[in-house]
Order: sequence, then C-alpha cells, then structure tokens
Amino acid sequence: MLEIKNISKTFNPGTVNEKVALDDVSLTLENGDFVTVIGGNGAGKSTLLNAIAGVWPVDCGQIIIDGQDVTKLSEHKRAAFLGRVFQDPMNGTAATMGIEENLALALRRGTLRTLRSGIKSSEREAYRELLSKLGLGLENRLTSKVGLLSGGQRQALTLLMATLKKPKLLLLDEHTAALDPKTAAKVLETTDMIINRDRLTTLMITHNMKDAIVHGNRLIMMMEGKIILDIRGEEKKKLTVEDLLHKFEEVSGEEFANDKAILG
Ligand SMILES: Nc1ncnc2c1ncn2[C@@H]1O[C@H](COP(=O)(O)OP(=O)(O)OP(=O)(O)O)[C@@H](O)[C@H]1O
Ligand SMILES: [Mg+2]
Repeated sequence: MLEIKNISKTFNPGTVNEKVALDDVSLTLENGDFVTVIGGNGAGKSTLLNAIAGVWPVDCGQIIIDGQDVTKLSEHKRAAFLGRVFQDPMNGTAATMGIEENLALALRRGTLRTLRSGIKSSEREAYRELLSKLGLGLENRLTSKVGLLSGGQRQALTLLMATLKKPKLLLLDEHTAALDPKTAAKVLETTDMIINRDRLTTLMITHNMKDAIVHGNRLIMMMEGKIILDIRGEEKKKLTVEDLLHKFEEVSGEEFANDKAILG
C-alpha cells in the first residue's frame, strides 16, 4: 500500500542550520499494516509523515501509494489518498461550523466542496450512527459548533472526518498527545476501532512506549533520520518495554539513559 524507496531530506542545505532530517529511508507497508512510530525529539518522525503527505518535495527517492508514484504530486493532490490527524485538536476541523457540516465537508473531500445542496436526512442519520459509536454523546449535538467541543471530542471528530472516505493511508502524528490521559485512552480506543473496522493502513507516531507496543501489528523506531528498528509479527505481539529498551541499546550502541532517548 505504501512503498518508500531511499528518500532523504535535508533542511536548510549549505547553511549553518543544515539538518539531515531523513537519511536514505526505505519502508514498505502492506495493506492493513498498522505501524506505530517512536523515536526521540528530532528523530525525523514528523518529517517522514510530512514527506509522505507531500508538505515539501523530498531531495531524492520515491514514494508510491497503492501502486501510484506520488513523489512529484502536490500535497493537495495527495490529500485525496490520505487521512491525517495532528497533535493540535484545533487543527483539522472548522470551529465556526457545526458537527454535521464538518462531517459533510469531509465526505465531499475531493469534489467541489459546497454544502449549498444541503445535507440529506439519510446522510444525517449516517453521521448520527457514526458519532454514537464514539460514545461521547455527539450524536445529539449535530448542529453544535465544533468550537464548543472539548479537545478530546474534537480530536475524535477529526479522526472520524479523516477516515470518513476510506483513505489509502492514515497518518497520525501524536494525535492524543495534547489530551488528558483518560481522554487520550478513549481517543486511542476509537482509533483502534476505526482502523480495525476499515482495515486501514496506518502510521501512528506516539511518545508513549506502552501505546506503541500495545497498538498495531508493527513498530518502528527512528533515530537521526533513519529507521533503526522494525519489529512485527509474533515478535511485536510478545514485545515488552524491557525488550524495546534492550533492542534500542543494541542497535544504537548507546546505553538507555532515559525515556527521552527513544520517546522525546
Ligand atoms: N520545516 C523544517 N525546516 C527546518 N528544519 C526542520 C523542518 N522540519 C523538521 N526540521 C528538523 O528536522 C529534524 C527532524 O524533525 P521532526 O519534526 O521530524 O522530528 P520528530 O521525530 O517528529 O520529533 P518530535 O518528537 O520532537 O516531534 C529536526 O532537527 C527538526 O528541527
Ligand atoms: Mg514530531
């Protein structure tokens, strides 16, 4: 579903601020892979997701989504294939619009976005149904302005919107990091539910080692612009925090000093 071949990205080349953020990264995701991504601050995690989304062009290499080479496609064009959720709950939804209007816009993604023709009652029913599965009571607040929702409610809605039209790839960049632990757990539960239901191919960055171990079928760790660990299958299922720390020391040659080294 995703094939990344030898991509590199250096920011501010030739200046004192030069930074190699991605260093010859290759990664292949099978259809339905749910990959958690960990690594310290500045390891290149967000840069990897931004490269896939086409926020800027990569310096070299190839990015193929579902057989189509998107390396030269604009961010706007690639958006048709992707669902994205970021850390900031203020991102991804329109605050001054209602819940159903936000969902309706998400559904019309890729077409000329206009709500002039209105939202049909059958569509409204479908939204009610989807929202009720979140267990946040949003199904009874279809016309409430999104700006009135809590961060967790808003993040859950963003997730719903990002997956309303089944994306070829779901990109989650610390999408629960700004939430309190209880709300974060709830949004993660919803994340799992949607990914399993729709068998979405997913990359999820997290700073929580336990979350990275518990969720998904595969885990990658990044460091200095490279993927230094890639754990999947039975090995991933049996993985413990101790295993992960041990592996980190093995591949990095560094003693595990504190969580910051691998989680940031
Ligand atoms: N647009 C940019 N311009 C310049 N430098 C950038 C840009 N984006 C990222 N970088 C640099 O690239 C490196 C990797 O950053 P990235 O955001 O990918 O890290 P990260 O692994 O997501 O870290 P964190 O856990 O802190 O979010 C960092 O040194 C960062 O400062
Ligand atoms: Mg980041």
